[in-house]
Amino acid sequence: MRIHVLGSAAGGGFPQWNCNCYNCHGLRRGEIKATARTQSSIAISGDGVGWVLTNASPDIRTQLEAFPAMQPARAIRDTGITGIVLMDSQIDHTTGLLILREGQPLDIYCTDMVHQDLTTGNPLFNILGHYCGVNWHDIPLDEGDDFVVRGADQLRFHAVPLDSKAPPYSPHRHDPHLGDNIGMWIEDDRTEKRLFYAPGLGHVDDRIRAYLAHADCLLVDGTFWRDDELIQAGIVNKRARDMGHLAQSGPGGMISVLSDLERPRKILIHINNTNPILNEDSPERAALADAGIEVAYDGMDIEL
Ligand code: MLT
Ligand code: MN
Ligand code: ZN
Repeated sequence: MRIHVLGSAAGGGFPQWNCNCYNCHGLRRGEIKATARTQSSIAISGDGVGWVLTNASPDIRTQLEAFPAMQPARAIRDTGITGIVLMDSQIDHTTGLLILREGQPLDIYCTDMVHQDLTTGNPLFNILGHYCGVNWHDIPLDEGDDFVVRGADQLRFHAVPLDSKAPPYSPHRHDPHLGDNIGMWIEDDRTEKRLFYAPGLGHVDDRIRAYLAHADCLLVDGTFWRDDELIQAGIVNKRARDMGHLAQSGPGGMISVLSDLERPRKILIHINNTNPILNEDSPERAALADAGIEVAYDGMDIEL
């Protein structure tokens, strides 16, 4: 299985258009050692030819241009994207769909809840119906249910429902439903390697811990270092946990969760621009390195 990180930042990207936090300001001025990042998305392939786009970032145009493997050019209009799998209906994971409107009908795999959001509060599927059209494939949520994405037959996908949040625009933002957010367990039949991907992971219980422990590689929520990071920065009065994200530091934080695991390669993704780990000279980044935890960057390639 080949995994290509198309975008490693959370919503807003890094730097964010209107943000003057320490990181965004420092990056623009060249005053910190850090790399710009586009918004959250990865591509996964079994054979290196057909690619499953996992989340569709508003930055998708730039991301595809930066990754020639997804543009095989076999016909006048062509793409390496065989299907699209959505983890949730957040703006940073879905608005890129509009950029793909010029092609063939899009094969989109998402839960019933995400489908509801994308046909009501944020009716992207209805809009796309007037352009390329959407073939919706419902993602099963029962334990033991797998699915295959067209054109990526050797990969088996298994959705892991997560405790997180539907987006602010969702009709059920304050009424959580199974399938609002999922993580994805992906197994390669040929190599028997397993990836667990969860860019929004608000809470780790024993069920989730079992997935984390048995994977060969984790790409998990790296949004915030502190639970009160946005409050401390004077940006907005919201905690990480209010937004469905588990902060890295502190008791029960992502670092302590990951530190207990021996098997997987551990990589943080979906990193918010305020997160001090983006600054490669920061003590927080050094603490991650000490814990054997990597930070995803745009263009990162992972071979499993
Ligand atoms: C989130 O996951 O909380 C988002 O990145 C928020 C957003 O898209 O603005
Ligand atoms: Mn997000
Ligand atoms: Zn910022």
